[in-house]
Order: sequence, then C-alpha cells, then structure tokens
Amino acid sequence: MKIAVTGARGMLASVLVRKLLSLGHAVLPLDLPEHDLLQLAAVKNYLTAERPEFIYNCAALTDVDLCETEVEKARAINALAAGNLAEIAVALDAPILQISTDYVFAGDADRPYLPSAPTAPLSVYGQTKAEGERLISQAPKHFIVRTAWLYGHNGKNFVETMLKQAQVRPSLQVVDDQRGAPTFVDDFVEALVLFLPCREYGIYHFTNSGETTWYGFAQEFWAILGIPTPLYPCATREFPRPAPRPAYSVLDLTKTQSVLKIEIPSWQDAIRRYLSGRNPAGVR
Ligand SMILES: NC(=O)c1ccc[n+]([C@@H]2O[C@H](COP(=O)([O-])OP(=O)(O)OC[C@H]3O[C@@H](n4cnc5c(N)ncnc54)[C@H](OP(=O)(O)O)[C@@H]3O)[C@@H](O)[C@H]2O)c1
Repeated sequence: MKIAVTGARGMLASVLVRKLLSLGHAVLPLDLPEHDLLQLAAVKNYLTAERPEFIYNCAALTDVDLCETEVEKARAINALAAGNLAEIAVALDAPILQISTDYVFAGDADRPYLPSAPTAPLSVYGQTKAEGERLISQAPKHFIVRTAWLYGHNGKNFVETMLKQAQVRPSLQVVDDQRGAPTFVDDFVEALVLFLPCREYGIYHFTNSGETTWYGFAQEFWAILGIPTPLYPCATREFPRPAPRPAYSVLDLTKTQSVLKIEIPSWQDAIRRYLSGRNPAGVR
C-alpha cells in the first residue's frame, strides 16, 4: 500500500515509518521543513498528486506547556491541519488515522475512560486535540486512536529525562498523584499497523496495559537499572506547570483488544524491553 505519515521525524512516527517499510509498504513521510502541514494548499496538492491509500496523522504541537501561550499555533497544527488532511482523505477515498491523547479528558474519572466517554479537556493542548478529533471525524473512514504517556527510542521522554537527572541530582521527586499508563512506542506501532485492513472506523484507545503513577513508573525502572539516586513521591501542586494535567487518564483498552484481536503487553513488561533495547548492559 502507499501510505502517508505526517510528523514523520517525531518519536512515534519515525518508528511507524520504519515498521511500514519493513512490511513492504511505500511510505510518503511528511514533516518539517519539507512539508509544513500549515501550508494547507501545498499539502493538498502534494497528496492529491501522490494518492496515498491510507493516511496516519502523527504530527502535532506536543509541548503541552508551550500550547498554553502559543494558542493559535497549537490550534493550527493540532486541529486545522488535521481538518485539511481529513478533507484530502475524503477526496482520495482513503482512510485516515488521527493520533490523539488522554488530555482530551478532564481526568476526574475513577475508572478507565471508554472511547465513547465525553471529552472535557483542561488545557489548550487538550482542547486543540479534541477539536482535531471533531474535524477528523467528518471523514467517514476515520480512526481516532488516543494514547498517553508515550516513550520511545527516538525522542525526548520521561524515562530519558529522569535518567539524565539521576546522574546530576542528589535525589529526585516525582509526582505520585497522576494515574495513567506509560506506553512504549514500539508496542503502539505494532497495533497501529493493524488498522490498515480494519474497516471498523471510530475511536480507539491504546496504552500499555495496567496503570501506575509517574512515581510508580520511575520506581520500576529505577529497580530494573539499580539506580542509587533516592526517589521521593510528591504532589502535582508542588511542581506547578502552565498546562494542567489530567489527574486520572487511564484509558479503557477493551475495544482495541477485541477489534484488533491483540493482547496488549503490560507497562512493566514494556519498560523492561525499552531499557534492554536502549542499553542491554544496564538491565539486571
Ligand atoms: N508524547 C506523548 O506522551 C503523547 C501522548 C499522547 C498522545 N500523543 C500524540 O502522539 C502523536 C505523536 O507524538 P510524538 O510524541 O511522537 O510527538 P513529536 O515527537 O513531537 O512528533 C511530532 C512531529 O510533528 C512535527 N510537526 C509539528 N508541526 C508540524 C507542521 N506544521 N508540519 C509538519 N510536521 C509538523 C514535529 O516536527 P518538529 O519537531 O520539527 O516540530 C514532529 O516531528 C501526536 O499526535 C501527539 O499529540 C503523544
């Protein structure tokens, strides 16, 4: 198949592109600076000429704190560019898959969010991603796949940030009052390619299975790597940030597992595989 992937140099899409190529697909990678999704007409002309049979939209303004001040830019990339891609997909009669986020939810639930749960974003990032979902859903052949707490080998992420900090700080505090599921990009990509032949359009959730807090997550890889730097739990309010974070963002995976016929690996299994891919000598 000929497949367009936006945000192709990003943490998620770079792994997706590699996977699609390994499966023998022809990939049209779109990213800055060659393909700016904000150049709506240029993107439309390019894709209309290339005629991809499937579009993955992984591009986004993902710096959630920056989005609070760069509101127009966030809306342009996360929503309007997605709407443009949806129109192109309709004209090409190609399915489009939009990557979305747990930030579309308020985070005040006490059980995992179903794909059908009402959205109520707290931040500009979440609002613009929710608007992107609405625009994408105007294409009849659309998938919206929400994920959360992503980490992968090709991008800035929580694991690498913490491991760097552990080398320079005498001790570290990590928030222990946000619950979610850390998600290894490689596992997400294995699921994303299964949407290619899928015809059950709609909203899906993908994270690694299980749930924890950022502190619980850090404790796990601290133990695997045997890191001596002391780690302490703290509250979100002790680290005020421009964008509010959902306190609870566990996503229900039942629909994804049953439609794609997959068992999703646990977050504990995933972090172990990530670490052994990163630095085999470091894993106990
Ligand atoms: N990271 C997470 O924890 C997380 C959680 C939930 C959902 N998501 C979603 O997952 C998707 C992938 O995230 P990621 O972590 O892989 O993000 P990422 O590494 O920041 O990748 C996003 C890519 O989009 C590109 N991009 C930004 N503006 C563009 C434009 N105008 N035209 C073309 N490309 C543009 C970026 O280029 P530059 O780097 O040059 O700006 C970057 O290569 C996003 O939809 C995000 O909302 C991420």
